[in-house]
Amino acid sequence: VLNNKQWLVLNNCEFRLKVDSKEWFSDFRYLIGIMTGTSADGVDISLGKFSGSKLQEFTAELVEFQSFEFPASLKKLIELAIKNEARTREIAKLNFDLAYFFAKCVRSFLRKAKFPLKKLDAVAVHGQTVWHQPKSNNLGKNGFTLQLVSLSALTQLLKVPVVGDFRSKDVAVGGEGAPLVPIFDYNFLFSRKCDVITINIGGIANITYLPKDCKLSDVVAFDTGPGNTWIDGAMRILFGRNYDKDGETAKKGKLNKILLEKLKSNPFVAKAPPKSTGREEFSEKELRQIIKFCNENSIKDVDIVTTLTHFTAWSIAENIKRFANPNANIIVSGGGARNLFLLQLLKEYIQQNSSFEFKIFEPPEAKESFAFAFLGYLRMGGIASNIPNVTGARENISLGIIAT
Ligand SMILES: Nc1ncnc2c1ncn2[C@@H]1O[C@H](COP(=O)(O)OP(=O)(O)O)[C@@H](O)[C@H]1O
Ligand SMILES: [Mg+2]
Repeated sequence: VLNNKQWLVLNNCEFRLKVDSKEWFSDFRYLIGIMTGTSADGVDISLGKFSGSKLQEFTAELVEFQSFEFPASLKKLIELAIKNEARTREIAKLNFDLAYFFAKCVRSFLRKAKFPLKKLDAVAVHGQTVWHQPKSNNLGKNGFTLQLVSLSALTQLLKVPVVGDFRSKDVAVGGEGAPLVPIFDYNFLFSRKCDVITINIGGIANITYLPKDCKLSDVVAFDTGPGNTWIDGAMRILFGRNYDKDGETAKKGKLNKILLEKLKSNPFVAKAPPKSTGREEFSEKELRQIIKFCNENSIKDVDIVTTLTHFTAWSIAENIKRFANPNANIIVSGGGARNLFLLQLLKEYIQQNSSFEFKIFEPPEAKESFAFAFLGYLRMGGIASNIPNVTGARENISLGIIAT
C-alpha cells in the first residue's frame, strides 16, 4: 500500500509526460505531418517550420511536400476495414503495417529533402480513419472514432516523438472530432479585409468560413458531404480506374436531372452544422444502389460520373449558401482541386460575385498534412487546438497524444 507522500510523487511526476512549453517555444520547430484521408489513395507528407506561442502570432512555412501511393496490399486492407469487412487480426496487422510504411516514407522523404532526421522535432500523424461515428451520427449516444497506426511502433522506428490520435479527445467530450484544420485556417488564411472560405476536397469535402476580422469563436467549419468518394467509386466500378483524371470523363457526359434530384434529397446537405460525415454514410454500398437505379433507368455510365460530379459541386455550394457566404475569397485544396470539371461546376453553383478570388492552395494535397504538422506543434507546446463551436465539444483541448 502506498502512503500519501508516495502517491503524491507518483501522481505529479511519474505518470505524466511533461513537455516544457517554454523550452518548446524557444526556437523554430520542424515537424513532419503525415496525412492519409478517406480516399485511401496514399500518404501526403509535409515538412513544416513553425514558430510562435500565441494565436495569430504563429508562423508556418511549408519546407517540402511529397505524396506516396499505398502499395496495393495495404490499400486493399484499408478498403476492407472501411467497409467493415476486416477481421480483428487484419485490423491489428493494418495498425502495424501503416507504421512500417509511414516510417519508410518519412525516411525517403527526408533523404529527398536533404533534411537530417536529427533536426526533426516531432512527427504528427493523422492515422487512417477506418471508422468515424461521433455522437451526432450515433443517435445521441456516445460517439467513437478510429484512426489506425501504432504510435508506439512509429516512434520506435523513427526515434522521434510522434503526436497522433488527434480526434479522440474531442469525440470523448461530445464533439464531432472534425474538422480539425480550422485552427490552421484561422491562424494562416484569415483576413482583416474580407471573408475567407477554405474548401478541402478529399474523399469527403469540408469548408472553413472565416468572417472578416473574426474571433476564434466566430469560425464556422463542417463537412459538406462527398468530395471525391463517389466520383472515385463510380470510376472504379464503371471504368476500372481509380479516379476521374482532371474530370475528363465527367466532362464528356450529360447531366441527368432525375438522378441529380434524387441525390439532392440526401438529408446531410441541408443539416445545420456542427456536422461531420464519412464513408460510413457516403458508402460504396449506397453508391452501388445508385448505379443499380441508373442501370434500371438506362442512364449511361459516363452520365453517372457527370451527375455525381454535379452533385458533389452542388452540395459544397449549397452549404456555402446556407451556412456561410458565397461572396468571400475562396481557397480550394485537396486532390479534388485537380478535377477541373468539378472546379468549373463549383464556380457555377456558388455564383460568386466576380470581384472575389477563387484560388487553389499550392500544391492542393499539401494543405491537410501541413495543417496536421501544425496541430502536432500545438500539442507539443500544450496549446488548445479544437474549436468547440466548430466541433461541438464541451471542452477546449490540446488535441492528440505524444508517443516517445
Ligand atoms: N488529376 C486529378 N484529377 C482528378 N482528381 C484527382 C486528380 N488527382 C487527385 N485527384 C483526386 O484526389 C483524391 C485524393 O485527394 P486527397 O486530398 O489525397 O484526399 P484524401 O484526403 O481523402 O486522401 C483522389 O482520390 C482523386 O479523387
Ligand atoms: Mg489522400
